[in-house]
Formats: sequence, C-alpha cells, structure tokens
Amino acid sequence: MKWRFCSEEAETERYVVCNADEGEPGTFKDRVLLNSYAHQVFEGMTLCASIIKAEQGFLYLRGEYLHLVEKLQDILEQRRDSGLLGNNILDQGLNFDIEIRLGCGAYICDEESALIESLEGKRGIPRNRPPYPVSQGYLGKPIVVNNVETFFAASKIAAQGGQWFADVGTKQSQGTKILSISGDCTKPGIYEYPFGTRIEQVLQDCGATDVLGIQVGGPSGTFIGLDELQRTLAFEDLATGGSFIIFNQSRSILDIVKNFTHFFAHESCGFCTPCRVGTSLLKKTAG
Ligand SMILES: Cc1cc2nc3c(=O)[nH]c(=O)nc-3n(C[C@H](O)[C@H](O)[C@H](O)COP(=O)(O)O)c2cc1C
Repeated sequence: MKWRFCSEEAETERYVVCNADEGEPGTFKDRVLLNSYAHQVFEGMTLCASIIKAEQGFLYLRGEYLHLVEKLQDILEQRRDSGLLGNNILDQGLNFDIEIRLGCGAYICDEESALIESLEGKRGIPRNRPPYPVSQGYLGKPIVVNNVETFFAASKIAAQGGQWFADVGTKQSQGTKILSISGDCTKPGIYEYPFGTRIEQVLQDCGATDVLGIQVGGPSGTFIGLDELQRTLAFEDLATGGSFIIFNQSRSILDIVKNFTHFFAHESCGFCTPCRVGTSLLKKTAG
C-alpha cells in the first residue's frame, strides 16, 4: 500500500529508505539479514525504486553495526559494476543508487518520521501525521520507509510471486515472520515462521523449559505468561517486529520491569510530556 500511495503522488522526486536502525532490545534479525543476504535487501529496495520511480535510496544503518559498512559498501559497488545500480539499470531506463547513512544509537530514530528528521541532519524527533511520509517525507518529498525484512521479502516475492507468499500464514497475516530469539533457551538465534505459529511451538523449537514468560516484540511489545502459550504470532493476535525474549523461573519479574523502565526513561526523546515525564516517574517507582 505504501508503495502504491507513494507512486500515486504528484511530486515525482521520491525516495526509498531501508530502516536498518534495529534498536528494539532483543532484535538482531536485520543484522543477520544484512550480513548474509544484503544483495536481496538491495534488490528489494531497487524493485521499490522501479515501482515508485525513485532515483535515490538510503540504507539507514544502526551506528552499532559500523562493522558491516565496509562489506555493504563492497556489495553496493559490485551491484554498480553489474549494472544493477546506477544509471540506466539493466538498460531499462531506471536510474537508482543507494547511500549508507549511519544512525547514532538513538532508539527513537527507528521510528520512521524521526528517522527522516535524522536523515535530514536534524535531531531525531517524531513528526505529527498527517502528512504521512509517503506524501511528504524526506525534504518534503514522498518517501517509502520499510524494514530490512520487508525489502528482503519483496525480492523473494518478485522472484516467486505474490501467491507463493500469500499461501503461507493466516488470512489476515500472510507470509512469514523472522524472529530474533534470545534469553533462557538452549538454541537462541534467528528463526523464520509462518504467521499463525503458536508460541508453544517456538518454545519447543528453541529449547526453552521452565518458562516464566516471554516478552514478544521487545519492551514495546507484550509480556505473556504460561497461560498464554496457545497464542499465535500474527497481526490479529501477537504482532511483533521480531524480538522474542524468553525468561525462565529464575528471573524476577520486577527486575525485568525495572530494566525496561530504565530503558524507556533513557531513550525518551523528550518531545511528548506523557513519555518524558511518565517514563521518569515510572523509573523512580521501579527503583
Ligand atoms: C518506538 C518505535 C521503534 C521502532 N523501531 C523500528 C525498528 O527498529 N526497525 C524498523 O524497521 N521499524 C521500526 N519502527 C517502525 C517504523 O516506524 C516503520 O513503521 C517501519 O520501519 C516500516 O517498515 P515496514 O512497513 O516494512 O514494517 C519503530 C516504530 C516505533 C514507534
């Protein structure tokens, strides 16, 4: 929908951004995708550019992923040499290139409008909507911002077809979701599941026993206990960006709350009063 809305804008100077600022505690899937599948991610961005008619793309990369920059620059260079980026891509008349921009470690810059502010060289604070970024985003021009996983999936969909993707998952949540699984389990790591998968299945696969609860979607997400293991990964149930942190019975729920409260107080950008003041009050209460 974003690609369609952006392509329908009257303004023809348009931009593509890959949100690789991955700052939600417990998520590391984008780092793995960029480390192992960067070609596919750049392919997805180029497909988006060809559809929305953009000439410039940005990979907004988390500052802590500095170690990936050289490798990613090499891959961009290879793609330019192969005629997959630059002027007149594959003789199809498309001009598009990708620049890497580094974030500076602010959680709020993962939010797309704050990210755009940061791209423009300003302090990262969220913008009010409307206008939405697809109509007025970077430098006031239409922009599509998508996550690394989305561009990766787009490249696979282009090759295998929409039906192939839609055949997996549930009616409301089609396709798959990549999870970053960490915490108290014997096999942490990256897992890809069809939407609709039950939490108990995930716990079984990653070797989690003696579970106290799971933080699905990172501190901004949902904490579920043992009586909710039948719930599913899906937009209609447990929506998640991919962070999946498992806590066993040796953990104190109060310590978890304290940790998350400190995180939000530290990362509040300070723009809105309920968050600026509220997170500090919560931190004082949690101790
Ligand atoms: C506080 C906050 C943190 C966010 N963190 C991320 C993030 O780490 N990565 C990301 O891609 N999107 C993040 N988002 C969502 C982005 O604003 C944006 O919706 C997303 O990049 C769009 O990608 P998609 O449509 O491909 O899912 C965050 C949003 C908020 C409000």
